[in-house]
Amino acid sequence: MSMCRTSRIGGALFACALAFAAAMPVTGHAQGNPPAVPATFAFKSPNVDLPNGDRMFTGAGSDAINNNCLACHSAGMVLNQPPLSKAAWDAEVHKMIQVYKAPVNADDIPAIVAYLAANKGTK
Ligand code: HEC
Repeated sequence: MSMCRTSRIGGALFACALAFAAAMPVTGHAQGNPPAVPATFAFKSPNVDLPNGDRMFTGAGSDAINNNCLACHSAGMVLNQPPLSKAAWDAEVHKMIQVYKAPVNADDIPAIVAYLAANKGTK
């Protein structure tokens, strides 16, 4: 503050003191306290029924295939294929895993193949 060192006039000294006060660290309200957070906060879980359409597999044993096979395409895309033998469905599931890198839980493969054979199998 060159103004403070060179000034010999009373008024300027007063201005110098004000400038010093303004430069002091500010405490209290000016620092801002975080907004008060309620002690407990209840999350709400609204239950919404979305139309299924052909997006998901339905019926008995559909959990495994719903959990593993809907990341990239709908159920309709799978079910619109021609009926296949159980061995062909098994190969199809492994093709998804090997060729398209489908993240399928290995434990779920038998249930997926069983569902496909039961619902889209060759008679
Ligand atoms: C990582 C993404 C991904 C996942 C997960 C996935 N698929 Fe696919 N699937 C594909 C792609 C890509 C195609 C080819 C789409 C195309 O040709 O238009 C496909 C095609 C298919 C087809 C049509 C026939 C064919 O071979 O192209 C069937 C049936 C099928 N998938 C079944 C499944 C089943 C059953 C699962 C669960 C085990 C599954 N998919 C999981 C990516 C995936």
